[in-house]
Amino acid sequence: MNMQECIAQGEQYVMNTYKRLPIVLEKGEGVYVWDMNGKKYLDMVAGIAVNSLGHAPQAVTEAIAKQAKIMMHCSNLYWNKEQNALAEVLVKKSGLGKAFFCNSGAEANEAALKLARKWGKDQGRYEIITLLKSFHGRTMGSLAATGQEKYQKAFRPLPEGFKYVPAGDLKAMEEAITPQTAAIMIEVIQGEGGVYAQSQEYYDGVQALCAKYGVLLIVDEVQTGMGRTGRAFGFQNFGLKPHIITLAKALGGGFPIGAMVAKDEIAQYFAPGDHASTFGGTPLACAAGLAACKILLDDDFLAQVRQKGEYLRTSAKNLSEKLPGKITDVRGLGLIDAIELSVDAPAVAAKMLEKGILVNTIGEHILRLVPPLIIEKEEINFFMNTLEEILKGM
Ligand SMILES: Cc1ncc(COP(=O)(O)O)c(C=O)c1O
Repeated sequence: MNMQECIAQGEQYVMNTYKRLPIVLEKGEGVYVWDMNGKKYLDMVAGIAVNSLGHAPQAVTEAIAKQAKIMMHCSNLYWNKEQNALAEVLVKKSGLGKAFFCNSGAEANEAALKLARKWGKDQGRYEIITLLKSFHGRTMGSLAATGQEKYQKAFRPLPEGFKYVPAGDLKAMEEAITPQTAAIMIEVIQGEGGVYAQSQEYYDGVQALCAKYGVLLIVDEVQTGMGRTGRAFGFQNFGLKPHIITLAKALGGGFPIGAMVAKDEIAQYFAPGDHASTFGGTPLACAAGLAACKILLDDDFLAQVRQKGEYLRTSAKNLSEKLPGKITDVRGLGLIDAIELSVDAPAVAAKMLEKGILVNTIGEHILRLVPPLIIEKEEINFFMNTLEEILKGM
């Protein structure tokens, strides 16, 4: 079967829920992937912040192969060593108290929303305040938390009890808080929303509002967690003290796993029967997670992510000066970055694809860069040189 036939097969049999580019990827190694025709691409998407260790990272593939032969799955009716060990790592690195495992970001957020509701039950607190332009997932609960009309409108009625306020607006946040508010849920950088961080003052203000009104702070770290921002978790850049964080994406080094981690005094509100996941925290997923965490959460590795992020943004700013008017903004933290263009971003991405680079776009003008955290300066240079060449012709 050739690549065109494979795409035709997908069009016939796979449900049409993704806008896909016309290539079939079949192999990856480090920061590169190859399509069925053997064409090589620099991967600046990394599975949207999943392949943080690059493709086929040896430590993770070996851990998976080893664990697969010993035990892949066991029910949560029993303990397993890998789950307990991964929970210890996440708890110690986050300063929180207990972890719950699931399989995706949306599920991690569902778990967080349920925990916040259970915590608030006796006080009559159930409302969750989230931000406009946020993204928390596609399940009914996480979709209700997602402050974007375009994703919600076809699926109403959604679960009740969600309110949305503009990011950066503390007054609106305070006005939205009522005696029924259980939690404020934020991303420290809105990834799907266009790679926007808020000011330190804003985060301090949110933290202060949580303390003033006795409301929980949930930080969705699905995209920003596991070293993406150059800190183990995004909230650590801003000195936030969340009650609950949620993780997925890079946690398994490419293997699906999600987690919700909470302070002990909040976690204790979940009792047996309150929440569960058949596949949550299997020995296989957690072995992958342990191998990934060992690298991703290492201090030296994180320092390199911060340096490479600086280098990437400085290079983009230099390019912006070289090509006046073409780049309208460069922003980000660590290796979650955006280059905003005055020209059509999907057209730039299509040209990049031709030239052997995968890059993600948000809306009409934003290139979102979430490359493998193992990317080197030469590869960043290759990306910038290619972008320069393309922008010059537009
Ligand atoms: C911040 C954030 N939360 C939640 C999700 C949903 O994660 P998943 O697609 O694994 O359900 C995403 C996915 O992009 C995300 O970026």
